[in-house]
Amino acid sequence: MRKIYIFDTTLRDGEQSPGVNLNMQEKVEIALQLEKLGVDRIEAGFPAASPGDLAGVSAVARAVKNASIIGLSRSRTQDIDAAREALIGAQDPCLHLFLATSPIHRKHKLRMEKHQVLETAEAAIRYAKKYFDKIEFSPEDAGRTELDFLCEVTEMAIRAGATVVNIPDTVGYMTPYEYGNIFKTLKENVPGIENIQLSAHCHDDLGMATANALAAILNGADQIEGTINGIGERAGNTALEEVALALETRQQFFQAKTSLVLSEIARTSRLVSKLTGMVIPGNKAIVGANAFAHESGIHQDGMLKEKTTYEIISPETIGLKESKLVLGKHSGRHAFREKLVDLGYDLGDEQLNSAFAKFKDLADKKKNVTDEDILALIEEKLIETPEVFALETIQVSYGNQSTPTASVRIKTLDGATLDEAAVGNGSVDAIYKAIDKATQEDVELDDYSIQSVTQGKDALGEVHVVLKQGDYSVQGRGVSTDILEASARAYVDAINRLIEKRKSPARGRDNVTLI
Ligand code: KIV
Ligand code: ZN
Repeated sequence: MRKIYIFDTTLRDGEQSPGVNLNMQEKVEIALQLEKLGVDRIEAGFPAASPGDLAGVSAVARAVKNASIIGLSRSRTQDIDAAREALIGAQDPCLHLFLATSPIHRKHKLRMEKHQVLETAEAAIRYAKKYFDKIEFSPEDAGRTELDFLCEVTEMAIRAGATVVNIPDTVGYMTPYEYGNIFKTLKENVPGIENIQLSAHCHDDLGMATANALAAILNGADQIEGTINGIGERAGNTALEEVALALETRQQFFQAKTSLVLSEIARTSRLVSKLTGMVIPGNKAIVGANAFAHESGIHQDGMLKEKTTYEIISPETIGLKESKLVLGKHSGRHAFREKLVDLGYDLGDEQLNSAFAKFKDLADKKKNVTDEDILALIEEKLIETPEVFALETIQVSYGNQSTPTASVRIKTLDGATLDEAAVGNGSVDAIYKAIDKATQEDVELDDYSIQSVTQGKDALGEVHVVLKQGDYSVQGRGVSTDILEASARAYVDAINRLIEKRKSPARGRDNVTLI
């Protein structure tokens, strides 16, 4: 079986999803989980984009021991130098250089002739080679680049010292036949191609990212780039879990495998969804809530007789376990700790106490506390942000013929109590206006989404918000059996993160354009 290397770009291309803005701790948390998942390479960010990105890549480089850490860079010396700085401390650093090669990009974006593209890329690779053993070169928009020119670019990249040449279908334009043919052509025509690895990088604009990645494998690609849950620019990138499960399930056909620990997929997917705020659609392949649900009577009957009638992948393969122990209000600390360990969390005493208190509170409101409820509770505060403001109480008055009014009580870090009230267009609007008054923060609500954690009237509601203030953009999360309380918690969480971000010299990357 041929080994296919997995290059995860959740923290770079994935973070380019609209509304996603991970802080440094969140990036490290995701990177450590990717390490557990067994990805070979982690693209941790684009260091030249901002000090925040540089700090994020640097933190990941220092935290991860068992994967190569990669920094993205335009074909410019300043970018390469920023990546060098960010990757100090990485066990196995790699630079990812890119320059667009397609006629559209050459003419309209770069305003360069073919020879200038070749010269610029070559100079960048040669400069980078002084500092990096491992260099990946990406001819951006390779999918729409003339094949003969792409061969020329690839040959130049190999000569200049690239160790991986990546073929990005930047705009998700390719069909599997065409994309596979690029790999076949490069393999057959480029001198020295046997000395480097070829990589596939697909976008999902036409819903073909996974199919294109698999076509690349069939035609000789050594590496697949993608993200967890397929998040990324526009319609997203290849979903790595889909590629991994396709190779696992159809081993005989592909004759290729990855080194991923498949049983870590569900956990990684959930973590990425939580920290990015990008909800996984129920029907998403492999990791959607309905991916293993059988609704129709005929299917259920088949499943009861023999699972393989309708199940090609078992939920256990990706780490989904059937919950045997449902907790309730009589469950004690011991059972709670056991449950957390079973779910993969080994909390310290302080964190356990706080999680147990939240669990008891929830068990008073909800008869059966499920695994999803417990995960939602502990993952709400997975990343500790200093609580400059803490929500104490909220009170809302709503009637469909009256103006919604909300009052909030907020405690500050130094013990002060802030009471404020406001009216709004709706209950959430009134709450947010009251919080604005109490915290005296002038913010703009850029995104708001709400999701129920489990089914049923007493389900936990999980709210995700994105707030903007000038150049800063932050996310916040809140969980409660009451959606108004969850909304208030998410908003206060985001304000706390905003304050933290303003204090930090390494600002987060907001509004950066790649050219
Ligand atoms: O899609 C793309 O072209 C990219 C490059 C930077 C590799 O993400
Ligand atoms: Zn991309």
